[in-house]
Order: sequence, then C-alpha cells, then structure tokens
Amino acid sequence: MSKVLVTGGAGFIGSHLVDALVGRGHEVVAFDNLDPAAHPQPPKWPAYANAKCKYIRGDVRDKEALRQALDGIEVVFHHAAAVGSGISMIDIGRFVEVNSLGTANLLELAIERKEKIKKVIVASSMTVMGEGTYECAAHGVYYPFLRPVEQLVRNDWDMRCPQCGAPSKPLPMAEDRPLLPLTIYGLTKQDEELETMLVGRFYSIPVVAFRYFSVYGPRQSLTNPYTGVIARFGTRVITGKTPLIYEDGQQLKDVIHVRDVVRANLRAMECEAADYQVFNLGNGVGLSVHRIAELISEKLGSAIRPVLTGQYRRGDARHGWADISKAKRLLGWEPSLSAEDGFADLCDWLRTLPSEQLEEATHAYENAESESEKRAVAV
Ligand SMILES: NC(=O)c1ccc[n+]([C@@H]2O[C@H](COP(=O)([O-])OP(=O)(O)OC[C@H]3O[C@@H](n4cnc5c(N)ncnc54)[C@H](O)[C@@H]3O)[C@@H](O)[C@H]2O)c1
Ligand SMILES: [Zn+2]
Repeated sequence: MSKVLVTGGAGFIGSHLVDALVGRGHEVVAFDNLDPAAHPQPPKWPAYANAKCKYIRGDVRDKEALRQALDGIEVVFHHAAAVGSGISMIDIGRFVEVNSLGTANLLELAIERKEKIKKVIVASSMTVMGEGTYECAAHGVYYPFLRPVEQLVRNDWDMRCPQCGAPSKPLPMAEDRPLLPLTIYGLTKQDEELETMLVGRFYSIPVVAFRYFSVYGPRQSLTNPYTGVIARFGTRVITGKTPLIYEDGQQLKDVIHVRDVVRANLRAMECEAADYQVFNLGNGVGLSVHRIAELISEKLGSAIRPVLTGQYRRGDARHGWADISKAKRLLGWEPSLSAEDGFADLCDWLRTLPSEQLEEATHAYENAESESEKRAVAV
C-alpha cells in the first residue's frame, strides 16, 4: 500500500485513476482546482468523486498548496493541466503557467522530498510530436510541419514529400522521433515531459511520462469545446445531428479507452523497467475519422451517417497513430479494448446523460468552431 497523489484527480482520466488506486488499497489524495474549463460552476466535487479518496482543492500554480498536498506522498501521478490545442494559441500565458510552471513546482517539491518520493508519473501528450511520421518512396522517412494552406485550399489532403512533392505514406509514431509540437498546448506538454525526465535523471527520482493519444470514455468532458472528435460525434449523433467531417475523412487517428490508460499507469507504478522512460499510449491502430463517426452511429443504433463538409482547419495534423511496441515490451501492457468495444462502453454512458447536457455540448462545439474560425486556429 502506498500513499499516492493524483493531481487533476477530479478530471476525466485522473478520476478513473483515483478509483483504480483506491480499489487496489492505496491511500489516495486528489489535488484539483476544479478548473472552469473542465467543471461546471460554481465549483463542486463531481458526483463520481470517490468516497475513499481525500480531495484537496488547490492549484498547481500555488506551490504552498501543492507542498501541503504532498505531505507523506510516495507516488505522484501528475494529470492537472490546461488542455486544448486551439485555446492554447490564444491563452498562451495560462498554458505556460499551469503546464510548464505547474510541473516545475511539482518537481521542485519532489526534489525537497526525494528520500520519500518513489516515483513521479506524468501525463504527456501525442501533441509533443506534432504531425505524423511519413515516408516518401524515393526520399525516406521525414517529420513535417503542417501542410501549407495553399495545398489545403486545393482540397489536396495527403502529406507531400518536401523534396519531390509525391504523396507520402504515413507510419506509426515512435517515441524516439523528433518532438515538433504544433501548438502552445503541445509545447507546454513537451516542457512538462522534458522537465520531468531531466529532473528525474539528475536527482535519481524515478520518473515516467506517457504520451497519450486520444483518450475517451465515461466522464470525458462534453462541455469543454476542445475535447476530441469522439465526444463531438457522439453528442451530435445522440441529439439527432449529423457528424460533420473535415477534409476527406481519411485522416488516421489513434483512440484509446480510459480503462487501458489507467492499466498502463498502474503498471508503470509497479514496474521498475518503466523508470526514466517515455511511452506512447494509444491502441496502436490508425483509425480513419470517417470510420470513427460510422462506428459511433452504429453503437448508438442510429441511422445517421457522417457528412464530409470539404472544409479544413489550418492547424490540423493529417495522420497520427502510436507505435506501442515499447509499452508492450517494457510494461507488459497492451490495450484490452478495441475501438468497437470501447465505443460501445462510451455510448452506454452517453445514453445515461440528460438531453439538456448533450444539447449544451453540441452548442459549445458550434460556438467554439465559429470563434476559432474568426481567429483562424483549429480547436
Ligand atoms: N484526454 C486526452 O485525450 C488526453 C490526451 C493527451 C494528454 N492528456 C493529458 O492527460 C491529463 C488529464 O486530461 P483529462 O482529459 O483528464 O482532462 P480534464 O480536463 O478532464 O482533467 C484535468 C483536471 O485538471 C484540473 N486542473 C486544471 N488546471 C489545474 C490547475 N491549475 N491546478 C490544479 N488542477 C487543475 C481540472 O480541474 C481537471 O479536473 C492532462 O495532463 C492532459 O494534458 C489527455
Ligand atoms: Zn520524395
């Protein structure tokens, strides 16, 4: 039994982790500021808060509050973060303060307590890597920035080799590829990941970073307009609206159920081979956005099928899915839920939600879309 701190423990992934840790008999403390982007206001602990967990309302930017929360803690899971790629391109200072400096606060405190702290595990993101990994038949593997707007205007969606212009083959993204974030969110998650790895190695504090791909499951935020494509499609279909797809719908994404993310975190806590390592965490499958939308309609028993709008968003990466061989090898972990089974679980949860909440979520997206169009960034 260990004494464990979960920052962001009232959020989507953090709360599932809290439940799993409590279930294993650990003494768990959750530290969360109930950020308005993730929680209804006025702030209160969510209904799913675990009765056996101690909840502390506090902000990772407040080092003194964090110091108190760390009292007696042996293992830290750091999930508190400002999230959302589009909003990060507007609200730059807040993302740097919460993600880059919030992690710095946590690490400074871990150094103070390094005799007691056994491990720090942080939630990084696939966004630290940016666009996918591609291969040109003639020129080999490359790591591009965004496709040029002039190309998107022509509705020419495939990534093209910078040397010969030929459409290129996407490859799974491995951990050792270059980090090329496309947004301030990605940049601050890179800060978080690199700060943690560097400090851990320097002070011999075992650290682990997971680069999550698109995580979905019950409790994921629906009102936060910056949540992923799955919540967006799910709320549209369940409220009788058509899912709208950008580009040609053939973009490949990697979606992973929160239950598998929690299993990997527990493995990392228990397994020494995880120490000082960065792991991709996805299903290891590139699933097209069109297929994601179709599957969600199927699982909701709806006849609604997605529609291609022919539009695009300037900041969108084309493809991105995880090479998960490292997590399989070192953690002995692999995903247990296919997208089919995982979506069925998500849809069961969506069906339990009040219709006003679902309607509100679809409006939140629409507003965010028009706002981002005005500001010309991708949400
Ligand atoms: N959900 C995904 O697909 C995904 C993908 C990649 C990485 N991640 C990372 O996983 C972690 C958890 O994400 P999530 O999807 O559960 O998000 P979430 O918004 O549901 O949870 C984040 C929690 O952190 C809290 N928080 C925000 N700012 C804080 C602050 N300043 N101080 C204390 N608490 C604060 C929020 O109140 C919230 O409860 C984040 O670090 C995120 O960057 C998530
Ligand atoms: Zn080429």
